[in-house]
Amino acid sequence: MTIPPLTVVVLAAGEGRRMRSDTPKVLHPVGGEPMVGRVLDAANQLHPQSIDVVYGHAGGVVQSVVSEFYEDLPLRWVHQAEQLGTGHAVAQALPAVPDDHQVVVLCADVPLIRVKTLRRLVEAAADGVSVLTVEVNDPAGYGRILRNAAGQITGIVEEKDATEEQRAIREINTGVLCLPARHLRVWLDNLDAGNAQGELYLTDCIGQARLSRVPVSSVVCTDPSEVQGVNDRAQLGAVERTWQQRQAQTLMRDHGLGLSDPARFDLRGHLEVGRDCHIDVDVLIEGDVVLGDGVRIGPFCRIQDSHIAAGTELLGHCEIEDSHIGADCRIGPFARLRPGTRMAEGARIGNFVETKQTEIGAGSKINHLSYVGDAQLGAAVNVGAGTITCNYDGRKKHRTRIGDGVFVGSNSALVAPLSIGNNAVIGAGTTVRDDVADDTLAVDDRRPRQIPGWRSGSPEE
Ligand code: UD1
Ligand code: CA
Repeated sequence: MTIPPLTVVVLAAGEGRRMRSDTPKVLHPVGGEPMVGRVLDAANQLHPQSIDVVYGHAGGVVQSVVSEFYEDLPLRWVHQAEQLGTGHAVAQALPAVPDDHQVVVLCADVPLIRVKTLRRLVEAAADGVSVLTVEVNDPAGYGRILRNAAGQITGIVEEKDATEEQRAIREINTGVLCLPARHLRVWLDNLDAGNAQGELYLTDCIGQARLSRVPVSSVVCTDPSEVQGVNDRAQLGAVERTWQQRQAQTLMRDHGLGLSDPARFDLRGHLEVGRDCHIDVDVLIEGDVVLGDGVRIGPFCRIQDSHIAAGTELLGHCEIEDSHIGADCRIGPFARLRPGTRMAEGARIGNFVETKQTEIGAGSKINHLSYVGDAQLGAAVNVGAGTITCNYDGRKKHRTRIGDGVFVGSNSALVAPLSIGNNAVIGAGTTVRDDVADDTLAVDDRRPRQIPGWRSGSPEE
């Protein structure tokens, strides 16, 4: 069927007082993105001509966050000065909506709605009205769907206005509706606030549609988790879990990712995986992360905005940020790779090693207890335990260059700026202040003094 031109109206004017937060409710993150952003993403996938965001409370902050992160969307900002109800909110947007549009109403605090569900809703509406409904065990607080003997929707009654009998209905209004603009305009004009909450209810348009003989259909949402709303932090936590489960399922089912425990995996961003990748428990992935074929991630790791090539293994408790790891590397446990770390094929970083803005050549090893920052290491370098690049003189950062095949003995201090030639050897415990030529040994050979009988004698003697 041909989809009519669409306007999506996103309701976001509510104050969100129950969040008990200074941050506007719709900016609280779900999967690392503000929840309103998730709704806008889904809305945008319908290819509407306009996405009208109705804002009220803290609109400035919401606008600046949304405009920064979602700049390509056909957004229009609509101010609702006073929150007089959902009907009043939609009415603020309507003057700018062309008559031939279908209007899809979404709530900014129902962030898990899927675009395929919205498409079903738009198709079901044709040029009439459609309502997204769901059957729940506990309908408390929601508008109930009223149907006649033929099963057609005749109206929606809000809980506070409902009779005992109506309250027993378990089919509820999700708050997501699709309505024809030219009729909606008239129906919204006719709304009155003669109800228990003294509000202008958008849901009263359903009764009016029946009176004006505009067909009303419904789409039952098969996955109730899509229409979970967020009013307080507990519901936000529940929505976050649903989102994480959904991502874990997709990654396992559609991309073949192995997860030791899908309930202990968090993705706040985008993860691309090759074949036969495996992630152990309690791993957090943030930003854009790519894992090549056969990458294995140990337990309790956090990886952010990084690329890890095929066959590499990360042992437990590693932090990796803005880094590029080559194939067949081994890292950890307990390693911290800070931004700008690049490891070539087969390199190794072991426990309690910190790197930053550092290139590590193929097959090179920094296996224990080191800080290597602002450095460039050639191939087949061995950095001994406790080696420190002294990259900062209190004012400026300086670089350390280490050639191929260099052996750095344990507990060496490499005072930058410094250049160490190919195949040089640094003796253990050396503070290297001057450049070292190829094939040269740099060693601090001052021997410690030894004073026999020290403990038994008197220090004054
Ligand atoms: C609404 C529906 C109810 C449905 C429920 C689903 C009405 C009258 N009722 O009830 O049938 O079961 O959603 O969650 O529509 N908003 C504004 N401006 C306003 C009032 C609300 O922008 O003046 C926004 C809120 O920020 C929220 C959304 O509209 O995003 C829904 O408002 P809310 O007051 O939460 O509606 P409910 O009473 O839950
Ligand atoms: Ca309300």
